[in-house]
Amino acid sequence: MSFALADSTRQFRNALGSFATGVTIITTVGPDGSDVGVTANSFNSVSLDPPMILWSLGKNSTSLAAFMAAEHFVVHVLAMDQEALSGRFARSTTDKFAGLTVTRGVGGVPLLPGCAARFHCRTAYRHEGGDHIILVGEVEEFDHDGHAPLAFHGGRYGMFIRNEVPSPDEAAAGVAPLLSDLLARAEAGLGRRIDADVAAFGLAPHEFDLLRLLAAGPRSLEELEELAGPAGETAAVVLVEDLAARGLVSPPANGTVVIAAAGQDAVTAVTAQMAKTEAAALEALTPHEAALLRRFLTRLVRTVDG
Ligand SMILES: Cc1cc2nc3c(=O)[nH]c(=O)nc-3n(C[C@H](O)[C@H](O)[C@H](O)COP(=O)(O)O)c2cc1C
Repeated sequence: MSFALADSTRQFRNALGSFATGVTIITTVGPDGSDVGVTANSFNSVSLDPPMILWSLGKNSTSLAAFMAAEHFVVHVLAMDQEALSGRFARSTTDKFAGLTVTRGVGGVPLLPGCAARFHCRTAYRHEGGDHIILVGEVEEFDHDGHAPLAFHGGRYGMFIRNEVPSPDEAAAGVAPLLSDLLARAEAGLGRRIDADVAAFGLAPHEFDLLRLLAAGPRSLEELEELAGPAGETAAVVLVEDLAARGLVSPPANGTVVIAAAGQDAVTAVTAQMAKTEAAALEALTPHEAALLRRFLTRLVRTVDG
């Protein structure tokens, strides 16, 4: 669909919104010494040598006078968890900094913590740009600490997820693998490692399952038999006797099985090791990708479970 420019400013904005960007907050100090800051996604790199960046500020911004006079400003590239901060600095209020802990950069410019990167700039040029002023800054100092960035696209905040390179098999197959196959393979691979963790503590997987159940509270032998399924009637009794002989559960009194201190310790230790194993398996993902995976799987489980 193409539009003549006269069609509408809104369509132009929408088309511009298809360009995904990061989000920045740019701060400075006003001539009266007040702290000033605006949210801007017009930030871009300009030159490597000398190091230069640019951004543009609307001429109707109440912060314009401060940036027109400022010798220095600092660009804060926002991290994924700073959406609220972006919203706060996108409103024309006088108390944008209220309650925030800031440090000070060159010329007393306020510095916000927790960002993905910061560029300390000297104002090099100010150019006319229609209803905006284009500010070019020469970067005097910068820092970055690998926080995942906040993204902006189509008027909405989001996060960056890198593209997967398909394996040669997947590329040859030419079709997306079934989700059920992927989940089964992930479960089998992770399950093998988890079983190895359990075995390292001298427990079989079904013994650990039972101990974990008892760690949440005492259970009657009947309940344990039911949970073990039709074949488990004798199995549960034998299992409990075996675990009692090893001091992991108390011998059943009045048909009730209670976990022993040694059993509780074993559950704590194995669970801690399992968490480490899981974290190692998730190393292929960034922390926010891992968080997303949990969120998506939780939603999937809610839909398909029961
Ligand atoms: C994600 C996002 C990006 C924005 N980018 C810009 C920008 O590049 N330039 C600009 O002038 N305003 C931009 N704005 C709007 C300003 O943040 C907003 O108008 C300003 O902070 C209002 O306060 P002020 O009157 O103190 O400038 C953006 C807002 C949002 C939410």
